Amino acid sequence: MIVPNHVAIIMDGNGRWATNRGLSRSAGHLEGSKTLEKIAFHALNMGVKYLSVYAFSTDNFKRSKEEVDYLMNLVVKYFKTKADKYHKKGIRILISGRKNNLSDIVLDSITKIEKLTENNTNGTLNICLNYGGQEEIIDAAKKLAEDINNGLNIKDFNRNDFYKYLYHELPPIDLLIRTGGEQRISNFMLYQLSYSEFYFTNTFFPDFDKSEFNKAIFIYENRDRRFGGINKC
Ligand code: IPE
Ligand code: IPE
Ligand code: MG
Repeated sequence: MIVPNHVAIIMDGNGRWATNRGLSRSAGHLEGSKTLEKIAFHALNMGVKYLSVYAFSTDNFKRSKEEVDYLMNLVVKYFKTKADKYHKKGIRILISGRKNNLSDIVLDSITKIEKLTENNTNGTLNICLNYGGQEEIIDAAKKLAEDINNGLNIKDFNRNDFYKYLYHELPPIDLLIRTGGEQRISNFMLYQLSYSEFYFTNTFFPDFDKSEFNKAIFIYENRDRRFGGINKC
């Protein structure tokens, strides 16, 4: 079994999951946060080294204040209550995204969980919060421009060199999973997805369980990744 090194999940469908049950959208987000915990431990346990998840996009600020506030409070609570559990399992937590627009309470909880888990080596959970893929590329380009201004020679600069300018230096994504039925990227990790395999499921994220995750891995294992070349049969 070839376990993918880096799996990314667009955790979509929380709102519809809740609405279908006559619940508030917030109830869907709470349920989604429980699913995240189960899936993260399962994935990292089976040997996935990096798991990136889309928790809140830069564009999600277009939603009602009530929903945004609920999500931000949920993040703070999640980091506070789950930090020790992730830490005990040796998982490193990284947060990717823009820091502007986030309250001091959110920023503080990010700093704390990243610091606590920074030396852990059993796998990395990268949580994308106030994250946009185009924004990440722009922010990286700005950092690169600064280095060029300071004398960096970019004559031999190649696509691998660009990774260190992104929010965190993560490897390319091998498998992207999107729950919730939509078949689009919604501005997620554009640079790292260049040769990723895509897996879409209609299952809403709160219902996405270990067996569904295993199914995605199984399908991934049977894909023929060619990276522009030709594989021998
Ligand atoms: C994904 O679920 C979680 C976030 C975007 C925060 P949604 O909230 O987008 O759920 P749907 O797509 O409306 O069902
Ligand atoms: C993408 O889902 C963002 C997250 C899952 C956090 P959206 O629900 O925001 O994406 P669109 O609006 O359907 O493209
Ligand atoms: Mg959605």
